Amino acid sequence: MAEPVQTPQSSQTAFKPRIFSGIQPSGGLTLGNYLGALKRFVEKQNEGIETVYCLVDMHAITVWQDPAKLRQQTREAAAGFIAAGIDPVRSILFNQSQVTAHAELAWIFNCVARMGWMSRMTQFKDKAGKNSENVSLGLFAYPALMAADILAYKATHVPVGEDQKQHLELCRDIAAKFNNDFGVAFFPMTEPLIEGAATRVMSLRDGTKKMSKSDPSDQSRINLTDDADTIAKKIRKAKTDPEPLPSDLEGLKDRPEARNLVNIYAALAGMTAEEVIRDHGGAPFGSFKPALADLAVSVMSPITTEMNRLMQDVAEIDRILGEGAARADAIARPIVDEVYDIVGMIRSRVI
Ligand code: TYM
Repeated sequence: MAEPVQTPQSSQTAFKPRIFSGIQPSGGLTLGNYLGALKRFVEKQNEGIETVYCLVDMHAITVWQDPAKLRQQTREAAAGFIAAGIDPVRSILFNQSQVTAHAELAWIFNCVARMGWMSRMTQFKDKAGKNSENVSLGLFAYPALMAADILAYKATHVPVGEDQKQHLELCRDIAAKFNNDFGVAFFPMTEPLIEGAATRVMSLRDGTKKMSKSDPSDQSRINLTDDADTIAKKIRKAKTDPEPLPSDLEGLKDRPEARNLVNIYAALAGMTAEEVIRDHGGAPFGSFKPALADLAVSVMSPITTEMNRLMQDVAEIDRILGEGAARADAIARPIVDEVYDIVGMIRSRVI
């Protein structure tokens, strides 16, 4: 994708394993965010690796956000993380704008990344559509800020859903070009972790479209804030074809809606899609959908309830985010200071 750059890939073992990932608080969290990202953030935390998780409010404002709603959604997302199992003591949990290293490193990366690389980003093309003259400059530069999020911590691994793969490739291109331009082995070649049965959860109304918080139809997604009744109703009404579930995975090939429901079931149950087909192959949707609805409610409802409880104490959420930001800053500040030095900026201010 990028111009050929040599990668002075000092052995990856030189970098301490560290996980970083982020979610935009630009709307409520969806089942896609939960299965593709958040659930896996919790698993990584529980594996005992150092984990840094960020609510990327500065990414959110690349498209218009109502200020009061942004604040509310950021707190709600933080509550969602904690309710889903993120322990703010074992993981670092914070909102991006409280750690200035992200914006600072993003500027340096704006000067490293090439226009051509950014123009090839499919997510920018999708989001800008025919309106590309009129979207914010921030939306175009978005992947450079994302690379800064990751590399301000020299993160070695980033759990994400499938849709972030190209951004992660760009992050490696930026790291490689920086290392190459300055003749250093400073940044790691970060690995994406795109794993499990639900790396791409699709819309409940159209199995060829990603489930997204920005879809105009609320019926297309399950929100972390939906109550048990709403979750069950949305699953019952999910678009499907008239055939029963096939007896092997091959039979799901041209049936995007059926495949999506099987994948959702698998991810919620901690099974593989093969195992779901083994148990439910041949079942009509009349029985598979209620089984899926029960499963979804049993997994999601406790999270929703806990999230609502946590939202009663907004001051506590803000305290957690502030404490997380201080811990994040302690890692990122020296890294970004070293970047300034590598680039040739004088750092003589007396503090
Ligand atoms: P965002 O906020 O759109 O989504 C957050 C995470 O959820 C995953 N995801 C999905 N996974 C499976 N199926 C879906 N339908 C689905 N929808 C969303 C995303 O892949 C992502 O992992 N650019 C990022 C946020 C970001 C970031 C970062 C991520 C900013 N800086 C640094 C990792 C590292 C984004 O817009 O994700």
